[in-house]
Amino acid sequence: MSDYSDGQRPSVRRFVNRTRRSLVERIRWRVGYYHDLMLPPFPDEGLQQRTVIVRPYTKTDVEGYAEILREKSSAPARLPPITGSMREWHADVLEAVRLHRGPYHLAVVFGSEQAYAGTIILEPLRDPGQSVELTIALHPRAQRQTVGPRAAMMVIRWLLDSGVHRVETRHSPTNSVSCRGSTGIGLPKEGVARAGTPIPNDGVVEWQDTCIHAVVNEAHPRVEESQPAADPATR
Ligand SMILES: CC(C)(COP(=O)(O)OP(=O)(O)OC[C@H]1O[C@@H](n2cnc3c(N)ncnc32)[C@H](O)[C@@H]1OP(=O)(O)O)[C@@H](O)C(=O)NCCC(=O)NCCS
Repeated sequence: MSDYSDGQRPSVRRFVNRTRRSLVERIRWRVGYYHDLMLPPFPDEGLQQRTVIVRPYTKTDVEGYAEILREKSSAPARLPPITGSMREWHADVLEAVRLHRGPYHLAVVFGSEQAYAGTIILEPLRDPGQSVELTIALHPRAQRQTVGPRAAMMVIRWLLDSGVHRVETRHSPTNSVSCRGSTGIGLPKEGVARAGTPIPNDGVVEWQDTCIHAVVNEAHPRVEESQPAADPATR
């Protein structure tokens, strides 16, 4: 008699389940089930304003993101972890941008060296739809040089110009830097959602209060013209 109730070894069962899940996902994307999780096509050359560039991740940027995740004090609690190996994570985030599937993970780089400064995550919101949540986290060495607001404004302008209706930022009510920063770039505070955000913590979910800011399309702030990044070959 077999040790396995369905006659399959666990490794075979895992393989079958993984293949089935991946097939179901492909079909769902193909038939438009995830249509509301798609984002506007991100320009291949990135967005640039003077010395700040927002562009898809390169292999070398990924280590910078790992450092932000390790630096708990500078990482918003909901910053997604690197899943699998760094190489797999990088391939996944590039694939998402290529296929216009949210969330986008974009790298912020700055200065003549195009040093990695931090990350911007664009998460499409299903409810109310046509809306995107922007999360930004800079490496401590890149903070306090106005890189954050310049990068965020460029991306927000691109989203609104691409037809997105509403862009939100969310942060802990105790994060006064983010609160002033969001208001300063044209996203007024809308209020605090009580226990509005689930934060996974050691296998338990904690619901934390969340301060919400937003800009809607007809009122987006004017920012300087963004231009294509200087040299895409440096990626
Ligand atoms: C919030 C953040 C994106 C701001 O970007 P930035 O490039 O540092 O912004 P600025 O250089 O314009 O600084 C904005 C203000 O915050 C202050 N500030 C920035 N980093 C700070 C820090 N680590 N500690 C204390 N104050 C800080 C600046 O002095 C400045 O103050 P002012 O408005 O009184 O002049 C960036 O600091 C960051 O990534 N923080 C950690 C992650 C986070 O909180 N993300 C927001 C979640 S959406």
